[in-house]
Amino acid sequence: MIDTLNDIETVALAELAGTADASTLDAWKATYLGNKGKLKAAMAGLKDVAKEDKPAVGKRLNEVKNSLEEALKARRAALGGSATGDGVGTAGPKLDLTEPGLIETHALGRRHIIMRVREELVEVFARMGFEVAQGAELEDDEHNFIKLNIPPEHPAREPIDNFYVDDPDLVDTPRMLRSQTSTVQIRVLEKLLAEGGTPPVKVVSPGRVYRPDTVDATHSFMFHQIEGLYVDRGVTMADLKTTLFQFARAYFGADAEIRLRPSFFPFTEPSAEFDMKIQLRPDEPPKWVELGGCGMVDPAVFAACGLDPEAWTGFAFGFGIERIAMGRYSIPDIRMLYENDVRFLEQL
Ligand code: DAH
Repeated sequence: MIDTLNDIETVALAELAGTADASTLDAWKATYLGNKGKLKAAMAGLKDVAKEDKPAVGKRLNEVKNSLEEALKARRAALGGSATGDGVGTAGPKLDLTEPGLIETHALGRRHIIMRVREELVEVFARMGFEVAQGAELEDDEHNFIKLNIPPEHPAREPIDNFYVDDPDLVDTPRMLRSQTSTVQIRVLEKLLAEGGTPPVKVVSPGRVYRPDTVDATHSFMFHQIEGLYVDRGVTMADLKTTLFQFARAYFGADAEIRLRPSFFPFTEPSAEFDMKIQLRPDEPPKWVELGGCGMVDPAVFAACGLDPEAWTGFAFGFGIERIAMGRYSIPDIRMLYENDVRFLEQL
């Protein structure tokens, strides 16, 4: 009997050392200390032990029971549960190291569609040899109007049609938020001459422009244009049309349709309106939409910048980037581009 108890103790302690969690610990407890466990069974055998051996066997039985209970407490504590509690770690949340981590799903942002179209346009023109020129948004009369051959009495100069920063009646050179990127044509030519350079010049310049227009589906008080200027000897209207056609095919696809309509701009002669057949609504057929203006640089512009109009020729164009984006992505209302509704922006 004593041997049996010794064996139970030895095996039980060995098995206890191998327990790893609350459930194996509970199973171990049931096997050795439970009501139907091995110690209980041994106790039941006590009645068959010879009377004179009983005290020794009983004592050993108690010792083994105490030893297993102490060992159980120690093991529970070692496994991180409460030594007196009923299960290991059952008090707190279970830690399952195989569970996939809590990946916080931050929605990935992206650049605004206008910025992306602007970049794409610059890229298309870069492939045709155009470099990027920078201009300022805060401009003066001289660059927004005068040197672009827009005389003082021209209706485009009405204070009500422009965002003047200084009162035009009170200062000699009022400053304004530029109303067109054509200002950059002047800036580029002036800089070229100031640095002692000569054409050819081949630049595009994208950027914001401002006009106090009433906001509706096709107008905004701030929008973007991309200006183009090519100056060299012997540039013709055919070069302009070829460039625009190539641009349209590169950006809108091989079956892009364009047309030039005669028009008037003070800084080009002849001037044209540039239209493309585009689809603004998925449920409507494509229609002709004006993307901007273009033409042959007026000799008066060359002269104003100090270039000999007899020697140099050039073409220029200025397109609305919003219009192009709306045509390319079938956006029916310009306001959608500024409302920053994520549900809309996510589709682009
Ligand atoms: N600046 C003109 C506008 O905003 C557009 C334009 C027309 C630009 C003809 C040009 C051009 O460069 O040649 O309405």
